[in-house]
Amino acid sequence: MDKFYITTAIDYVNGAPHIGHAYEKILTDVIFRHFTQRCDNCFFLTGVDEHGIKIQKTAAKNGITPQELCDKNASKFRENWKLLNVDYNKFIRTTDKDHEKISQQIFEYLLKKGDIYKNQYKGLYCNGCEAFLSEKDLTEDGLCPIHQCKPEEVSEENYFFKLTKYKERIAEYIKNHEGFIVPSFRTADVLNQLANIEDISVSRAKSNVSWGVDVLSDPDQIIYVWIDALSNYITALGYDTENPSPLFREYWPASVQVIGKDILKFHAIYWPALLMALDLPLPEHLLVHGWITIDEAKMSKSLGNVISPESILNNYELKEPDAFRYYMATAAPCGKDGNYSDEDFKEKVNAHLANSMGNLLNRTLSMLVKYFNGDIKSEFIVESDLISSALETVKIVENDFDNYDVQNAGLHIIELVDKANKYITDSEPWTLMKNGEDVKCGQVLTSVLDTLCIISSLIYPFCPNIAKNMAKQLLFDITQKLDDLSAGNIKSGHLIDKENIVPVFLRIDSEFAQKTKS
Ligand code: ME8
Ligand code: MG
Repeated sequence: MDKFYITTAIDYVNGAPHIGHAYEKILTDVIFRHFTQRCDNCFFLTGVDEHGIKIQKTAAKNGITPQELCDKNASKFRENWKLLNVDYNKFIRTTDKDHEKISQQIFEYLLKKGDIYKNQYKGLYCNGCEAFLSEKDLTEDGLCPIHQCKPEEVSEENYFFKLTKYKERIAEYIKNHEGFIVPSFRTADVLNQLANIEDISVSRAKSNVSWGVDVLSDPDQIIYVWIDALSNYITALGYDTENPSPLFREYWPASVQVIGKDILKFHAIYWPALLMALDLPLPEHLLVHGWITIDEAKMSKSLGNVISPESILNNYELKEPDAFRYYMATAAPCGKDGNYSDEDFKEKVNAHLANSMGNLLNRTLSMLVKYFNGDIKSEFIVESDLISSALETVKIVENDFDNYDVQNAGLHIIELVDKANKYITDSEPWTLMKNGEDVKCGQVLTSVLDTLCIISSLIYPFCPNIAKNMAKQLLFDITQKLDDLSAGNIKSGHLIDKENIVPVFLRIDSEFAQKTKS
């Protein structure tokens, strides 16, 4: 692998981020960090989507300008991602001047090419989707199936993009590229939608929507949000229809674009068509994640159950985001819906991170200090089934990530932790010591510590702080690439003193459990 480019959807800034947004960014960050352990050239893009009628209306309601609303909320997104240790390379805002300029250029290019044309349009517009819906998209009651609201009747002269021109090519592409849409069970739905697709409106009359990027050659129109929004993935790298930047040439096409299931049509149909019209290659994969619910209920302002990631860290007094990252990244099977509940959060991170993983490190190091003053004797270093099993797990976890199956990757790491715990329980180092089998005891402990080095590497994408802390206590260089991992991470010599053994994760107290809801 010589390069890896990963993107997230860009979030609308008409509100603050909630844990559904956080889920996507954490998932992406975990995948990104894993691939930085395998490849030197990785790039991670995220950002916010700032134009459109929804933002215009929210700003008006709050008595501020759209730009003020965007500035305020864009900062909230950035602050939350910082708290969660989401380590992106670039944060794009669609109000960035560079982005606006290139989306205008793209529009003019397509106009000249004949792929964009002007037409009178009458249709039903859903402000939630920022898209026109056809009658057959609606529920029996005439509502948008996603936002459960009645679309507005709009009659305008608009520019249209010739989506139908690319229909067959997209269908071909999807059929010939198994694995383009991950997980693949969503492919059939896309092909069905594609069969009925029509040309799409790509501008709005300024008299109806003013908050957007002007169409250069026709300032009565603004570029309708999806062309503006989708093009962020290439404008962020410095794409230009005439002279694309070195960064663009290095990283495009994206390795994987992470999106929620509600915006699949835009990414599996509109976006490929746009790329084809620009003669650009398509992304290698779309990772389509499911929906995060809270206590099994859909998050919504009207239900009053919207939770910000920030509030979870605050309520549990978590100084580091690792536990929340681990929980969210493993909350759902690949592509399926997942759920957040306080009870489950507490139970899972206490069990996996404190009781199993943290405790394994702690008790093994403590025994090493107690029995051998923290010294590893050269005869302690031997091959073991446990270490072979750890190295096998590296391959298994890599394979999980190749399939973007982050939940399974997490499960496989914890399985290894459990195996190491069982190995200690079965080998009974305390009994070996009592029976005078010191060397054997030392070998058992060293095997486990060696395995813990590998565990720290594997858990790093999920829990960067915990992993670094583990590695520090193990004197292990966590920056080495996964493929270079082998046995023998623990060298003979003095490993640790008693006072340097610190728990890497403290159990979350039950008293905090109810706070998130209040
Ligand atoms: O759709 N669970 O923005 P958005 C999981 N601006 N994911 C969720 C979620 C939940 N409860 N709620 C939202 C947009 N998401 C457009 C995207 S991309 C060029 C433009 C996910 O703020 C959602 O699926 O409504 C999407 O991937 C992302 O958050 C942004 O949603
Ligand atoms: Mg949405």
